[in-house]
Amino acid sequence: MQVIIKENYDEMSKEAAQIIRDAIHLKPNLVLGLATGSTPVGTYKELIRMYEEGELDFSKVVTFNLDEYVGLPPNHDQSYHYFMHDKLFNHININPANVHIPSGIAKDFAKYCQWYEDEIKKAGGIDLQVLGIGSDGHIGFNEPGTSLASRTSLVTLTEETIRDNSRFFEKEEDVPRFAITMGVGTIMEAKCCLLLANGEKKADPVSVLVEGPITSQVTASALQMHPNAIVIVDKAAASKLKRVDYYKWAYENRPRF
Ligand code: F6R
Repeated sequence: MQVIIKENYDEMSKEAAQIIRDAIHLKPNLVLGLATGSTPVGTYKELIRMYEEGELDFSKVVTFNLDEYVGLPPNHDQSYHYFMHDKLFNHININPANVHIPSGIAKDFAKYCQWYEDEIKKAGGIDLQVLGIGSDGHIGFNEPGTSLASRTSLVTLTEETIRDNSRFFEKEEDVPRFAITMGVGTIMEAKCCLLLANGEKKADPVSVLVEGPITSQVTASALQMHPNAIVIVDKAAASKLKRVDYYKWAYENRPRF
């Protein structure tokens, strides 16, 4: 696991956008896994800037989002469909046929989840998966106790996640109780995982993700077993890590050959 500690949110976002840009330059038809939430918004802004300045072409990029609330139609302003179009897709030259976001209104969820898994496989698997981390340590909506081998499925959100996400809704009761999420096992098959975290609230889950035991109680900790995981954090999110000096040293002296 490569841990990159940045001064603040802006620098974290820029670093993440550069990694995504370089990956698209290397493979213009990159299969890119995307996350929603507050954390990647700065990265998406930076990707839009790169696109506007002619540094990036998304025309062949294929995307798969991690999750969606159950019960919210795509045009609902708190759905992740809406979020992705508002924060990224409406501002770049992505081909709409290449965008995949789980449906929160599928009729048969089990069948739908299998279909989503099959689509990822058909696309050749995810090359680079962008991730945030919940205050309860989740990746996607894989809440504490989820099998670290889980696949895309219908899940129940924790009260903590509902509370955290109520900031986007008028009232807490409006936050959906269920979601469809890629599983931890699905995420672990991405060729590279890029997890971003900022702010003091993420310091505890980040400390377990990076330095704690691998446990289904903090599903992000599964990334310790990933052969190519990059974690970019700001100073506040890194504040409970014990080996900060080494992570900085290893980043500054990373092999460039
Ligand atoms: C979103 C997702 C979640 C978020 C996490 C952090 O698609 O999968 O795991 O990344 O809940 O959310 P924020 O960034 O709002 O703190």
